[in-house]
Amino acid sequence: MNGPFGRAAWPLLLAGWALAAGVARADDQPRYPDGAATFQANCAVCHRANGAGTPGLAPPLTEYPARFAGIAEGRRQLAMTVLYGMFGDIVIGERHYNFKMPDFGRFDDATLAAALNFVVFDIGHAPAATAPLAAADIAAERVHELDGSAVREHRATVVAGLPP
Ligand code: HEC
Repeated sequence: MNGPFGRAAWPLLLAGWALAAGVARADDQPRYPDGAATFQANCAVCHRANGAGTPGLAPPLTEYPARFAGIAEGRRQLAMTVLYGMFGDIVIGERHYNFKMPDFGRFDDATLAAALNFVVFDIGHAPAATAPLAAADIAAERVHELDGSAVREHRATVVAGLPP
């Protein structure tokens, strides 16, 4: 993973974030345990174990993903974000985030769908009527390859179309 920190600094940053993130509550079993495992191993380093994010680095996942999952373009947006990453300024709750979300297209469709379901339902507490993401939702976006800037541009149109 290349980034402004360079390779040598990653182990230190990982250790720091792991400490800051704490451990998930043992009494609160996730609805998507496979997704939770993928998330804790690959995503929590930036978004923290509870999805609260890291100011100045990675956004909280508590605000938008559950809302995105309620509309078709938002569901596409979630799949695009994990497949292709995202790059460019976004604003969540008055905070700016402008770092690179890595792409995870090397993971299979079911693994990515489960990780997103952990984000949407366990972290984001989406309403019960929200349909879980399926492997087919991920597969459908693999055929429209994008770069991270295009994923960010699509996000802006999705946010504008969210119900209040
Ligand atoms: C290296 C740090 C890093 C890792 C690891 C990472 N992300 Fe991200 N993620 C980001 C950043 C940074 C953004 C915002 C990108 C931007 O500003 O354009 C982001 C954005 C997102 C968003 C969009 C949120 C929104 O409001 O639109 C989702 C969803 C997401 N990440 C999920 C994940 C998942 C799931 C994983 C693991 C498979 C993961 N991230 C791993 C840094 C990371």
